[in-house]
Amino acid sequence: MTDPALDAEALRERAVASLITARDRTTLLTSCVDEPELTAQHSPLMSPLVWDLAHIGNQEEQWLLRAVAGHEAIRPEIDGLYDAFEHPRAERPSLPLLPPDEARRYAADVRGRALDVLEAAAFDGTRLTEAGFAFGMIAQHEQQHDETMLITHQLRRGPRALTAPDPEPVPLFTGPSEVLVPGGPFTMGTSDEPWALDNERPAHRREVAPFRIDTTPVTNAAYQAFITDGGYDEPRWWTAEGWAHVRRNAITAPLFWRRDGGQWLRRRFGVTEAVPPDEPVLHVCWYEADAYARWAGRRLPTEAEWEKAARYDPAGDRSARYPWGDAEPTPEHANLGQRHLRPAPAGSYPAGESPLGVRQLIGDVWEWTSSDFLPYPGFRAFPYKEYSEVFFGPGHKVLRGGSFAVDAVACRGTFRNWDLPVRRQIFSGFRTARSEEI
Ligand code: AVJ
Ligand code: FE
Repeated sequence: MTDPALDAEALRERAVASLITARDRTTLLTSCVDEPELTAQHSPLMSPLVWDLAHIGNQEEQWLLRAVAGHEAIRPEIDGLYDAFEHPRAERPSLPLLPPDEARRYAADVRGRALDVLEAAAFDGTRLTEAGFAFGMIAQHEQQHDETMLITHQLRRGPRALTAPDPEPVPLFTGPSEVLVPGGPFTMGTSDEPWALDNERPAHRREVAPFRIDTTPVTNAAYQAFITDGGYDEPRWWTAEGWAHVRRNAITAPLFWRRDGGQWLRRRFGVTEAVPPDEPVLHVCWYEADAYARWAGRRLPTEAEWEKAARYDPAGDRSARYPWGDAEPTPEHANLGQRHLRPAPAGSYPAGESPLGVRQLIGDVWEWTSSDFLPYPGFRAFPYKEYSEVFFGPGHKVLRGGSFAVDAVACRGTFRNWDLPVRRQIFSGFRTARSEEI
């Protein structure tokens, strides 16, 4: 028998812990550089860090204080400044943003009141508070912006500001290079994961033909073979738009890579180093991932194929929450949460492999899929259209699985990310697939 009062206390604990974990990370990312670096724009692709900080507080105020608890706006005049749709990233540095100290005070003020709301919340009133959804949504939102801020740190020029231990070295992976995923229907998406976002819903059956998928993400060594073979000079590997894009922008290697005599170097959080051969390739756009796959005689997996490889358990004929089952991620399962500032070598985390033996589906690098970002059958925007619905369509490609920069609260077998096919400042890599001849 389950005791609803106990369940509510467990949810409250989980919500408090998730909000605190997110704020600790936000504090780290906004205190490791000095004030001018917080208000500077390090790339036209990104907001100043101080914008993310106040935007985090403003979203929390709008959803936890105003929508859940019915409070009046604390500073109604700043809402427009932190509305992502009113001002594109490139123009945010010229707005009259709250200076760093004020932004910190504002976010802390909101947080204090939000914890009071959470203390008193009943988790069964409305869809917004059922199972603590709004609190989970806001913890995920903050973590998503923490990943965005980590991308800003990667783009920033100047000496190292962040440090973290490297992942455990592992022996070179010598297992099978690909895994057969049997054909047939499986359950995609979810209807009962309490903090799943609108675009992951509802659960529905999806037919998938048998296919083979790489056991690990594509490594730097494999990607270098594509470069060495003239992959960037050979139009037949590229889509028409992809070819036009790499030519127009003189793209000849992943972002942050530089050729130095006989070897490839990369810049990673302020440090230049040799590109490690056995690590998953990072900072490639969809066009590059797609071209590599064609060169390799393969293709990118569809989003449904990726999710079946990640969640389908043939033994129980069911879809699990994660590749390893239903248990929350631990450091043995996956490289998540900015615990490291890089992906782990291909073949790491055997405890995190799927029942079929696919590794590193969760964490390490976001994986490009061949699919456009589209709603599932029965989709309903909740609680706002601007999270998912306005991005549906052929312009955005789906990425799956999360990176080393994603926190566990914002990562599940059903979680969907999306971006433009030209983007590569994100922590993006990929694995390849091929159809099984029948
Ligand atoms: C889901 C990562 C594409 O950062 O643009 C943050 C998440 N939405 N604030 C983004 C998001 C609103 C979103 N992505
Ligand atoms: Fe946001």
